[in-house]
Amino acid sequence: MKHKLIALLLCAGISSIVNAQDKDEPAGKQLILKSDCKACHTEKNKLVGPSYKDIAAKYPSNSKNITLLAGKIIKGGSGVWGQIPMAPHPQMNKKEAEEMVKYILTVK
Ligand code: HEC
Repeated sequence: MKHKLIALLLCAGISSIVNAQDKDEPAGKQLILKSDCKACHTEKNKLVGPSYKDIAAKYPSNSKNITLLAGKIIKGGSGVWGQIPMAPHPQMNKKEAEEMVKYILTVK
């Protein structure tokens, strides 16, 4: 019993450290880190998909572009940056996708 309690306290301690670090990051970045985006995108370098920096340079951050790009994250997209299509993310809701786009469009 005592051991379990100590283990629990340790876990709580570690997760609060992790959460504290996460809290410094914008909500959209946290969502990106939790998702599969990093398999194909990085902030500064082209990988399978364009870098976030290149996306931010192409699209000014306004509500029209945020809606457009959030829709592409959910439904998938192709033909804008090359021949490779982006996989759809149907499990993501519009609000989450928009948070991610808002963050992406701030990457310089
Ligand atoms: C399987 C690889 C892959 C994954 C995973 C992926 N992307 Fe992409 N992404 C691409 C490719 C390839 C393109 C370029 C598509 C095109 O040319 O229209 C792209 C394009 C984009 C664009 C620009 C769309 C446009 O029309 O200009 C955004 C924004 C984006 N991705 C965000 C994300 C986010 C956020 C995630 C995670 C939820 C993600 N991507 C996951 C491959 C991926």
